[in-house]
Amino acid sequence: MEIKVLENLASTPCEVLVINKFEGEKTSEEIANKYAVDKDHFEGKFGETYLIHTLGQSFADKILIIGFGKKEEFDANKMREAVAKSVKKLQQIKAKNAIFNFDINADYGKSAAIGALIADYAFDKYKNKKADRVDEVTFTKFSEKEVKEGIVFANAMKLTRDLANEPAQYATPTKLAEIAKNIEGVTTQIFDKDEIERMGMGAYLAVGKGSAQPPKFIHMKYTGKNVKKKIALIGKGICFDSGGLDIKPASSMLTMRDDMSGAACILGVMSALKYLEPDAEIHGIIAACENMPSGTSYKPGDILTAKNGKTIEVDNTDAEGRLTLADALCYACELGVDEVIDIATLTGACVVALGSVASGVMGNDKEMINRLIETAKSSGETYWELPMFPEYKDSLRSEIADMKNTGSRQGGASIAGIFLQEFVNGPKWCHIDVAGTAFIEKPQKEFISGATGAGVRTLLNYVKNI
Ligand code: BES
Ligand code: MG
Ligand code: ZN
Repeated sequence: MEIKVLENLASTPCEVLVINKFEGEKTSEEIANKYAVDKDHFEGKFGETYLIHTLGQSFADKILIIGFGKKEEFDANKMREAVAKSVKKLQQIKAKNAIFNFDINADYGKSAAIGALIADYAFDKYKNKKADRVDEVTFTKFSEKEVKEGIVFANAMKLTRDLANEPAQYATPTKLAEIAKNIEGVTTQIFDKDEIERMGMGAYLAVGKGSAQPPKFIHMKYTGKNVKKKIALIGKGICFDSGGLDIKPASSMLTMRDDMSGAACILGVMSALKYLEPDAEIHGIIAACENMPSGTSYKPGDILTAKNGKTIEVDNTDAEGRLTLADALCYACELGVDEVIDIATLTGACVVALGSVASGVMGNDKEMINRLIETAKSSGETYWELPMFPEYKDSLRSEIADMKNTGSRQGGASIAGIFLQEFVNGPKWCHIDVAGTAFIEKPQKEFISGATGAGVRTLLNYVKNI
């Protein structure tokens, strides 16, 4: 989809003119008022649409009215959803181009562009019959600058969604490393198995041992012109999580190609920095590998030594994400950054607690947690704080090592957070569990099923607003 900006709505012939209607108000087009408002009593409840075939009475072949709901409740998030809804309607009627001429004063160009491009997304590269797409969307009223920023955000989300949707047979650790190397505006270092071993990342290394795919430790670095803060962003990069020797049942394994959604998020975020130019030094870190069962796999009962020297008894090989993150967190802390954020499809327990509605957030600094949650809210995502009560630590107690990698199933998301905290030394830190939100089984709001790009918008706004 191509997105354009038009300063003034000239009567350029177009297939569809999209206009809005607030509840209790008229629209900007007389003909729309005549049919929809006066005749059919179309109220304009939020997200409702009404289509008019103009039969030569307008410069547009059709007029699509999108309900904006109550005027006092309208905001940037509503704008994104409304535009997405309109684009889906345009796809349905197989329209190829449209002009959006909203009767509104605020510059919602960023939200509008993001909404249009989220709705335009389809993972159809392996289908012979492609999805119906709108080729061109033109926005009046919005500034070029806001729309452009929206396109940058949406492109980052698209990279993330494409990678998380991609079958594990293609989206391997090696492939992620290749993509990282090709991102413009960052310098990228890739560490192979021998170097990972030399760096002392015994926990991460163990997870990848059973796979035919070699692990790749990825470190990308962006340096802003005016560095106000140093931030490390870590993404869980399990390219396929079979569970390992503690193998998952078939139904739970089905979508486990999504277990690198955190890594895909970080790649999306890093790819956008060149355009956003935040005033920060930003490290993107991914400990990529596959968790597979084989004769070379790590085993329940093994004792691993992480980069910070702490020892971990393997209680369950399916709690692999936290082992890879443990070493990545140690690595990030050694960079001397001010803040670390990790994003991971970490626990089924988080899915049980929050469903696909919200991502779980934990951390060691209340102000940072709140800032992240607020940033999410204004970015169109929902984050919810989960507790880190010290009592959760009891269930990680091991008789033969410093800790086990799993505790009780109950409170599993918090226990995972407590485990990760053992590997944070120095910086402020937040952990985002996107197990329920990064990949959805049914369409939800403006998203089709599959990868959602969870975390991308929030982290981009987070680094932009430092
Ligand atoms: N990748 C899974 C978590 C997950 C579950 C992600 C559902 C997306 C959807 C993680 O590696 C895992 O297997 N966690 C286990 C931990 C348990 C063994 C303590 C889980 O949640 O069951
Ligand atoms: Mg697992
Ligand atoms: Zn996993």
